[in-house]
Amino acid sequence: MKCSQVSVIGVLLIPILHGADLTGRWLGSTQTPDGQKRETVIALKTEGDRLSGYMSSPQGDTAISEGKVNGDEISFVIVREMGGQERKIQYTGKLSADGLLMKMPGFVDRPGRDLLVRRVSTDPPKPLPPPVAKIALPAMQDVKPNGLARTPPMGWNSWNKFRNKVSDQVVREIADAMVKNGMKAAGYVYVNIDDTWEGSRDAQGAIRSNEKFPDMKALADYVHGKGLKLGIYSSPGPKTCAQFEGSFQHEEQDARTFAAWGIDYLKYDWCSAGRVYQSSSMPAVYAKMGQALLDSGRPIVYSLCQYGAQNVGEWGARAGGNLWRTTGDIRDTWRSMDDLGFEKQIGLEKYAGPEHWNDPDMLEIGNGGMSETEYRTHMSLWSLLAAPLLAGNDLRDVSPGILEILLNKEVIAVDQDKLGKQGVRISKNGDLEVWARPLADGSHAVCLFNRGDASAKVTARRSDLGVKGSCKVRDLWAHADRGKFSDEYAAEVPSHAVVMVTVH
Ligand code: GLA
Repeated sequence: MKCSQVSVIGVLLIPILHGADLTGRWLGSTQTPDGQKRETVIALKTEGDRLSGYMSSPQGDTAISEGKVNGDEISFVIVREMGGQERKIQYTGKLSADGLLMKMPGFVDRPGRDLLVRRVSTDPPKPLPPPVAKIALPAMQDVKPNGLARTPPMGWNSWNKFRNKVSDQVVREIADAMVKNGMKAAGYVYVNIDDTWEGSRDAQGAIRSNEKFPDMKALADYVHGKGLKLGIYSSPGPKTCAQFEGSFQHEEQDARTFAAWGIDYLKYDWCSAGRVYQSSSMPAVYAKMGQALLDSGRPIVYSLCQYGAQNVGEWGARAGGNLWRTTGDIRDTWRSMDDLGFEKQIGLEKYAGPEHWNDPDMLEIGNGGMSETEYRTHMSLWSLLAAPLLAGNDLRDVSPGILEILLNKEVIAVDQDKLGKQGVRISKNGDLEVWARPLADGSHAVCLFNRGDASAKVTARRSDLGVKGSCKVRDLWAHADRGKFSDEYAAEVPSHAVVMVTVH
């Protein structure tokens, strides 16, 4: 090989071996499933094979760590506080003629996706300000129980269907619909406004609703006039998850405002609180609002939303909570519902009981991502788990099939059973599972689930139920008596379906 050839190869290889110079600001955009545009900004600096910089999100700039350049490939880690826990998220990317093709992380039912980011400037990243010290609150003081939610709350919540499109008009129309379509009569009483109602604070620091909700008190009066109750949403952090005003440092004032408006239910969502509080202060942070609600003098159901972090079952009730989320957000897919409902509730039953419930998140029934068979499983499992039943669909426009699922009185009676015992899995054979819960009248509710892809026979054994003698069976979806059994009850259960019975 001639000398000149060696040097040409050398020149070409240097940027590849040591990594290309990627210093600059990179920008890409995607559409979220609900149609909103989301921008990803990555500011990078390369020094040889080292990569530094930060990633911007609505929550602020997060430094990248463990950054490496290897030829035309990069990798780095972002550490984010998510629901009271630090999570390491791994990103990788590959340089092409068009830009950097990033692999964005996925979720349980959504695979990671590719995102092309393009360089919009070659300026090196600005230095990030040093992290602010997080607040540590003194240990939690127990909050006296408010005596509400003797059975799991039932109602509707705006988030799953409406996201930021919820408004005064939507809430009024939903309340009207709940009266007309039989939901109110079936026990669904809370009409809950989720995130995106918040406006700015006035000169005295009082929270105001935004232009979508011209008069919260008038709305509460309207909802009360229908014999229903109104719920609202806030965060202990400075910002809610959708980046609206949170209750940070305004807890007592906000509780008084909510009470004055006539609010009956508060969902309190951790969101940005992790930026200001140490995670270990979470119980005290929640107790602070629990006490403020109690001090407001109005009965307000208190719903903790912190995705099950910090072992919430151990302290949620003592913080004044009537219910607490046990998981991340539900999505309208079989994978998501199946994962949250079947896998993530195991072992939590000891925390549930009258006035304090595990919350595997709101219902997706009727939102279109699952079949009616799957929605029947969703309704049955949530009822067996003594979970809150908060419909999350557009109740102004419900098909008869979906309404029948939401209005099944025999299934609702299981959810609302006075004994308040959360059901448990009593047997598992691959995808075939039997779950049961004891009821106040001495009978048991039993679900024969088939989580698999093909129809199969599912068997419930009397010995697993721990009952003696012969048992009378009633099918809660067929609304039919099924005679008696002594050793076992078996039924053919289609894929993703359930047979739900009571056994007397
Ligand atoms: C979080 C909660 C959701 C919803 C949104 C609103 O993701 O878990 O249930 O309240 O915030 O921004």
